[in-house]
Amino acid sequence: MKTVSICFVCLGNICRSPTAEAVMRAQVEAAGLTERILIDSAGTGNWHVGTAPDERAQRAGRLRGYDLSPLRARQVAALDFDRFDFLLAMDEANLRNLQKICPPGRRERVRLLMAFAPEGGSREVADPYFGGGEGFEVVLDQCEAACRGLLAYLQAQLAQE
Ligand code: 4NP
Repeated sequence: MKTVSICFVCLGNICRSPTAEAVMRAQVEAAGLTERILIDSAGTGNWHVGTAPDERAQRAGRLRGYDLSPLRARQVAALDFDRFDFLLAMDEANLRNLQKICPPGRRERVRLLMAFAPEGGSREVADPYFGGGEGFEVVLDQCEAACRGLLAYLQAQLAQE
């Protein structure tokens, strides 16, 4: 059976990318595609490796029915460019950092998550780490919108062949 694998990438892997991972897991499960769409997340930085998502991200997610508590931060590794069909960056800096370490021949795998959101919105999921609680609501809104577009895109890919 054909599968597709995706990895959401932010800076710390404790706010945005675990939120995207939890949102996407829920949408993929609702679509009955858990066995076919494989999901992970990682950070370009290593400060938070091994830690659970930021409490604010966990709380905001929980209020919308997403459980971020089992997730643990890890840093992006060279192997990820082989393991994942798509590495989806939250912002332009994450995108640049991924492109810097991307092996030749794998560049088309690296994209901005918000490229899958409806046209007209921001191209970036803004870093909520140093801001107030409302930043985490915006992250959730953006992830929910982009993941819907991403899911439709991946469903079309899986339907090919
Ligand atoms: P994230 O947020 O990239 O969405 O996980 C951040 C988490 C930690 C830091 C920056 C952003 N930090 O500077 O430690």
